[in-house]
Parts: sequence; structure tokens; C-alpha cells
Amino acid sequence: EGARPLAGKRAVVTAGPTHEPIDPVRYIANRSSGRQGFAIAEALAALGADVTLVAGPVTLPAPRNVRRIDVESAREMRQAVEDALPADIAVMVAAVADWRVAEEAPTKLKKDGASLPPLTLAENPDILAELSMHDRRPRLVVGFAAETDNVVDHASAKLARKGCDWIVANDVSGDVMGGADNRVHLVTAGGVEDWPDLPKSEVARRLADRIAKECA
Ligand code: C5P
Repeated sequence: EGARPLAGKRAVVTAGPTHEPIDPVRYIANRSSGRQGFAIAEALAALGADVTLVAGPVTLPAPRNVRRIDVESAREMRQAVEDALPADIAVMVAAVADWRVAEEAPTKLKKDGASLPPLTLAENPDILAELSMHDRRPRLVVGFAAETDNVVDHASAKLARKGCDWIVANDVSGDVMGGADNRVHLVTAGGVEDWPDLPKSEVARRLADRIAKECA
């Protein structure tokens, strides 16, 4: 049993992809495995935080000592995050779909051999940006940024645009999506830290330690 510097602090973590329904049997998805977000929820709980993990559709088991809320779509995820407030700490790791289908078909779309279904997209809410401006904004709001190029530049721009406190920028040009390791840079108002290639569990532990230093 180690130190519990986050005892008494509430944290909300999002993880995984979202599924955006097209009709009752089809959806838009992405390749996020949820592993990094689940590891962060576990690491925060290990430091004593009271953690709500809002999980998109993934096959991972819930970490111990974490309250898990399963959701499908971005709009459900936003509601679950809202329901988890007030919180001291928010870490938004989910790969939220940027777009949903504007109107989910109530019955299965049929292949009629002639016309294609007219799918119109609508923009999803940006949960991280909304939370950063929320009247019950958590004291520390952390976002993730998956980039394939100019990782740190894009992350610094995202920090300003979203209004969060920190961005964990990860380089997904390699094998990160679904993989075990992650290569990240921690971007804050104070500067950029380049972390080495680490297992996702270790990225999570380091981030939780940094959060504890900031919030304990
Ligand atoms: O804009 P982009 O998707 O690259 O931003 C990534 C960050 O924003 C992640 O922290 C992600 O969880 C969050 N995000 C969100 N809601 C969205 C899109 C992204 O919370 N609709």
C-alpha cells in the first residue's frame, strides 16, 4: 500500500472510441482500444482518487476501485461526464468521433440496388472544450492529442484552442493505436516535456504522479 496523495479528490476520465449510430445495426467507429485511458483511471485510483471512468465501447475489464460508466455515442459520453461533476480532475482520453450521422435511421437501411443512402453528417460536441469552459470546470483539465506530424506544435495550438490546462500529445505515426506502448510529450503553459517510449501503464503512472503534484 503506497501513498494516497489524491485521497478525497474526484476525477473523471474518458476512454475508448465512440460509436455513432447509422441505423439499428450499423455505426461509425474508430480504432481506439481504450487502453491508455483505462490505465490512467487505474493509476489515479491507485493514488487514492475517487475515479469515474466514462468508457466508450471497448472489450477491456474495468480497473479495480473505479466507477465505470459505459456509453456508446459522443452525446452519451458528454452526458456521463456532466453527471460526474463536480470533479477536481478531468482527463479526457477518449477518441471521440468528430462526426455523427445527423439522423439515425429508425429501421435498418435497405440495399435497394439503385440508390445509396444519403448519409448527412453533423458535428459532435467537443467534450473537452465544453468542460474547459464549464461553470463547474474541474481545477485541472487534461486533454490528449493524437498526431502524426508536428506533434508538439499541434498540441500547443490545441491547448489554447480547447482551453484545457495540459495536453498529452502522442505520436501515432507508429504502432500506438491498440498497441502497448506510447510516446508522449506533456505540453503545459510552462513548456514541453518529452517523455521516452513507455508502456501505456507507465505513461499513466507518470501522469498520475504529475497530477498528484499539481492537485494534492
Ligand atoms: O480535437 P481533437 O479530437 O484532436 O482533440 C483531442 C482531445 O479532445 C482529446 O482529449 C479528446 O478526448 C477530446 N475530445 C472531446 N470531444 C470531442 C473531440 C475530442 O472530448 N468531440
